[in-house]
Amino acid sequence: MTNLAESIQINYGICTTCGACVKACPNNIIQRDDDASPIVHPGPECISCGHCIAICPSGAMTIPQETEKAGFADAAILARHLRSRRSIRLWKDSPVTKEECEELIRITAHAPSGCNIHPVKWVVVNEPAKVKAFVAASAELLRQVPKDNRMYGLAAGMLRKLDAGNDILCRNAPALLIAVANPKEDLGLVDSIISLTYADVYAPSIGLGTCWAGFVMILLGVFPPLEKILGIPEGYKAQFALLAGHPQYAFTQIPPRDMPEIFWT
Ligand SMILES: Cc1cc2nc3c(=O)[nH]c(=O)nc-3n(C[C@H](O)[C@H](O)[C@H](O)COP(=O)(O)O)c2cc1C
Ligand code: SF4
Ligand code: SF4
Repeated sequence: MTNLAESIQINYGICTTCGACVKACPNNIIQRDDDASPIVHPGPECISCGHCIAICPSGAMTIPQETEKAGFADAAILARHLRSRRSIRLWKDSPVTKEECEELIRITAHAPSGCNIHPVKWVVVNEPAKVKAFVAASAELLRQVPKDNRMYGLAAGMLRKLDAGNDILCRNAPALLIAVANPKEDLGLVDSIISLTYADVYAPSIGLGTCWAGFVMILLGVFPPLEKILGIPEGYKAQFALLAGHPQYAFTQIPPRDMPEIFWT
């Protein structure tokens, strides 16, 4: 994204000099003039977070791009949505379209990101045959793990299931969405997990189901050739992945969960 501070416009005719933009800027790029009017000092410190224009109550501070009105879901509706989220492992026999994948990924652009850098990119495998080919290639690599390797026990266990037709890796999902980042990005993993969580939580609202692909990540860490099979671009590393598809069943009840323990200090 271009540096937002460079394109901020202020309509001093309607600015009330309330100072909200000055206080909201995390990097103190906006200061007050002698008459209390806000002045933007563009520079590399602007992280393009948009808080200044987003907080302005009078609409005096704007950018050329169109912005959307902010708003939150009702607490009861959102809490039920969050409690209803489930890991999906049973799918309809239908591929996930490019448009569905894009809709899921589009929402992740609004996830928090350290210094608003947004280092997360996506690798999408939405051809069911390619997911199956990945599972088959994984099985062959697992078969080659020698008995004296520390991975042998896990490999043998996974292989037994795969050979018996139990796709423990991808759960027969028709699609795999992988968050990738340049390994030099300090917050690549954290930002990826947050972005994947946004996608995970949003998925049911667009008719998709997801499941965190922990076994896929274990194998990607052990067998580098698998990254090539998935098409992870040069210079990027898979951070974590979601299985995705259209759920075969709807969960009608919310299973109980314990309240997390809190250490009040
Ligand atoms: C891993 C992580 C670390 C962050 N650390 C800080 C921080 O130390 N101080 C801070 O003011 N904001 C921090 N943020 C907030 C980001 O700066 C913020 O998400 C980003 O500017 C985008 O703004 P938004 O969250 O309002 O969309 C952090 C965000 C993430 C995801
Ligand atoms: S976009 Fe963010 S960092 Fe840049 S001037 Fe506005 S509030 Fe400050
Ligand atoms: S938030 Fe808007 S109204 Fe308030 S000082 Fe900044 S530009 Fe003016």
